[in-house]
Amino acid sequence: MKITIKDIAKEANVSVTTVSLVLNHKPCRVAQETRDNIMAIAKKHHYRVNQSARSLVTKESKLLGLIIPDIENIFFSSLSKNIEEYCRKNGYALMIMNTNDKASDDLMLLDLLVSRGVDGLFITVSNESFEDAKQMQEALKNLTIPYVMIDRFYPEINSNRVYFDNEKGVFLAIQHFVERGHTKIACIGGPESSKNGSSRTIGYKKAMQYFHLPIKPEYIEIGDYRYHSGYEAGQKLIQTDAEAIFVSNDMMTLGLIKCLSEHQLRIPEDYSIISYDNLLYPYMQGSEITSVDQNVKKLAIESCKVLLSHIENEDLPCEDVRLEPHLIIKDSVQFKK
Ligand code: RIB
Repeated sequence: MKITIKDIAKEANVSVTTVSLVLNHKPCRVAQETRDNIMAIAKKHHYRVNQSARSLVTKESKLLGLIIPDIENIFFSSLSKNIEEYCRKNGYALMIMNTNDKASDDLMLLDLLVSRGVDGLFITVSNESFEDAKQMQEALKNLTIPYVMIDRFYPEINSNRVYFDNEKGVFLAIQHFVERGHTKIACIGGPESSKNGSSRTIGYKKAMQYFHLPIKPEYIEIGDYRYHSGYEAGQKLIQTDAEAIFVSNDMMTLGLIKCLSEHQLRIPEDYSIISYDNLLYPYMQGSEITSVDQNVKKLAIESCKVLLSHIENEDLPCEDVRLEPHLIIKDSVQFKK
């Protein structure tokens, strides 16, 4: 039978309030012997705080929600792991929800998490939610709990947001190609509809102009941040005279690598490659891929700090936290002779 606070109070011959204060480590005027006895009884009966019942009194569920677009993408699985660790250390449980980049799931999971009484939520909106942004923007504006947009956000609405400077990240990649003598540089971009994806392709175009390099239409392929779109883009780019390829995320880089290997094309001897996310290194055979690093742990911790501070004080103004990406140089970019 499930033991309750009342049962413990009866056995310890104290009030329910005393048991609640002792079990929740709240200050109270109770002899140490009584305190120890209460803890011993609770341990003997394997008592656990009923968080749902507690939340009815405290109006806090100590539950947070995280909505991500693709849990199979190493970027988001790493982000989820780091957010969950930080939340747990701060007394919160985390409900992780995956939308598979569907706008309809963004909206449905937002409602589900609010109905489950989360105290706040993190969201990386699906790429689809940028195609018809109005509905999702309205849903976010009408939220009655604090939230943080991570990595992808709507500039049009006032929200807490934590993200990396995408254009800066791409500039670092193109600069590295140029420093090693490359001029025929192609780009596999992320989804044009998303702020995140489009800003990387814009960053590529700006960097090419900065270095006075030709931006050829056939050098630009647009993917969807997933493996197959990187493979398909590779099939087209190897038909051009491009010698270097910037790829907007690691999952598409894996697809490109598959394409190049099928055509016996080597990295960096035949194609110099720079990726984005810098999460492939533990899995790579042969050439390690030079990549733009978005410190996922830092992204997670900064997002948690923003959300927890807004749960503590809902009157805080929205925060815009832009983080700096870094280029991690490995051996996938050849020095052009
Ligand atoms: O790999 C997934 C991409 O989508 C990452 O680069 C991240 O920025 C996310 O938006």
